[in-house]
Amino acid sequence: MDFAPTEEQQMIRDIVRDFAESVAAPTATERDREQRPPVTEFKDFAALGFAGMTIPEAYGGQKLDDISEAIVVEELSRVDPSLGVMVAVHVGLCSMTIVLHGNDAQKEKYLPRLASGDMLGAYSLSEAGSGTDAAAMSARATDDGDCYVLNGEKMWVTNGSCADVFVLFAKVVGHPDYGKKKHGGVTAFIVEKGFEGFAIGKKEEKLGIRSSDTTALLLDNCRVPKENVLGEVGKGFAIAMNALDNSRIGIAAQALGIAQGAYEAALKYALERETFGKPIAQHQTIGNYLADMATRTEAARLLVYRAAWAKQQHYEQGAPRHTLEASMAKLTAGDTAMWVADHAVQVLGGYGYTTDFPVERFFRDAKITQIYEGTQEIQRVVIARALTH
Ligand code: CAA
Repeated sequence: MDFAPTEEQQMIRDIVRDFAESVAAPTATERDREQRPPVTEFKDFAALGFAGMTIPEAYGGQKLDDISEAIVVEELSRVDPSLGVMVAVHVGLCSMTIVLHGNDAQKEKYLPRLASGDMLGAYSLSEAGSGTDAAAMSARATDDGDCYVLNGEKMWVTNGSCADVFVLFAKVVGHPDYGKKKHGGVTAFIVEKGFEGFAIGKKEEKLGIRSSDTTALLLDNCRVPKENVLGEVGKGFAIAMNALDNSRIGIAAQALGIAQGAYEAALKYALERETFGKPIAQHQTIGNYLADMATRTEAARLLVYRAAWAKQQHYEQGAPRHTLEASMAKLTAGDTAMWVADHAVQVLGGYGYTTDFPVERFFRDAKITQIYEGTQEIQRVVIARALTH
């Protein structure tokens, strides 16, 4: 067991931290206020090679080890959690799912453009009536010669308005399991934004991660060529769950970055702000807060990196699935981000409640890490099932 980062992991952290502080930070507050996605910031980040960090070199990527992938999302989110999730969804839920389940033609067609950042990726599973209970989706696909025709409305799609390609799930009518199993017929499709019958729906007005766009997708007789079926027809639910096993580590890393950013802002303030003749960091109550914030953040970090390690062992060494580790990391890091951001606001007092300091944004941004890619309640369901089966 070795807890030290490799030279390469440390170098990646330094590069991403520098990028986040010099490129993302200056526009983060304004983008948050305006609900404007970091499209140009993403392009700049892609130019450094990170858009392809889950894609093999053979397809134009620069595949990083899984702990490095978590470090990248953590460092972006330490400054700008909206950019963090934009990247996490692009590299995890979209690109990695095509790497794992795509055929050669699909990989050749999509991965190089996802790796270069020419295309932005998204993932679309949820609907108004099926978030937690993903198998209850109502979007349908019907066979029509060389196409499937998709109808329905998807919801809560991160990168919805700016993505070019979506890994999207719908049930194929007439599949042998359709109507027999709850997830019967669920199939994964690669959908391009320009496909006939595809439109972007309502953009959500959100409490946090406001610079990350979240939209509905409208499928109105959307024609998807059969060559864009990802994996086998009817095997899409397992693909969706596998994608979440991978990407929940990304959300855990986002939460970790939020906790780290909020803690650092509170520490800086506590060392500068004086009351009763000394910096507030020297008052025992504030010192205790800082101690707990740092300790909880470090504990979450260990679980996030361990989950990333388990994921790598699963794919490279054939080790058992990393479902348990991913959900434990997401559960712990999400709660940690919320707790630490809450206490950061408390340390800053009235100033923490204003937009003059970043902690109010971290506080708002933290909440979603307890909700998306599976609520904390669902993480406990997944963990309990893994422990008891
Ligand atoms: N990997 C592979 N296969 C899996 C799997 C996994 N981790 N988990 C389940 N499966 C398979 C099962 O083996 C089973 O396969 P068979 O049909 O062959 O038997 C099938 O999937 C059904 O499994 P379950 O019976 O366990 O399914 P369920 O209906 O009880 O649901 C659940 C399980 C864990 C509750 C699941 O619905 C779930 O994770 N819900 C939360 C959904 C979620 O996280 N949504 C977030 C969407 S993305 C997002 O947030 C937006 C964004 O862009 C950031």
